Amino acid sequence: MDSTDILKQNAAKKAIEWVRPDEIIGIGTGSTVNYFIQELAALAHDIPGAVSSSEATSEKLREIGIPIVSLNYAGEISLYVDGADEVNTFKHLIKGGGGALTREKIIAEAANTFVCIVDRQKVVDVLGKFPLPIEVIPMARSLVARKIQQMGGKPVWRENFITDNGNEILDIHHLQIAEPQALETALNEIPGVVTVGLFAHRKADVVIVGDEPVRVQ
Ligand code: A5P
Repeated sequence: MDSTDILKQNAAKKAIEWVRPDEIIGIGTGSTVNYFIQELAALAHDIPGAVSSSEATSEKLREIGIPIVSLNYAGEISLYVDGADEVNTFKHLIKGGGGALTREKIIAEAANTFVCIVDRQKVVDVLGKFPLPIEVIPMARSLVARKIQQMGGKPVWRENFITDNGNEILDIHHLQIAEPQALETALNEIPGVVTVGLFAHRKADVVIVGDEPVRVQ
């Protein structure tokens, strides 16, 4: 395990404190969340079910014996735990590096508390160094790309990648996201955009930053 993985695991371990028995939990996607799922295994018998943000996460949850529940049946959920690709000090996020942004945004919206777990390398002053993922309807990909170029971004098609929803991803480079909420709104208005990987309107409630363990001499 390299040093970044240790930081991710530290954040995942701390997030376990937010889990309450007998409550359905929302679970995100990615390598940091995978550490959280490992930690969750010890509590699996107390958790009635989980709303999952991706096929990959669902598989991992089934392996530890947590049933997958449809959000339509779960309704409002109290806790959503997920990672992020970048986070600023206002708890605005860039997400979607793994391509699961649409389901992640839906579950975040349905959750009372969104706990985001990251390693410290993901904490930035201004979002945008990490290319911003945007899920698009396949037939609109070129149209959306042209509109984004007019806004000053450099869209790159994530070739050979199809989301769990059957759509495609554009990763937007060269953005300095000074006003995350305004940009999220503007991008959402382009026809063909399914989901913008900017979580500024529904940002995280709690950010847990994995840090080096304190060494006792
Ligand atoms: C998945 O689509 C993403 O939103 C992930 O939450 C994000 O990319 C963080 O992934 P890692 O924990 O693997 O860095």
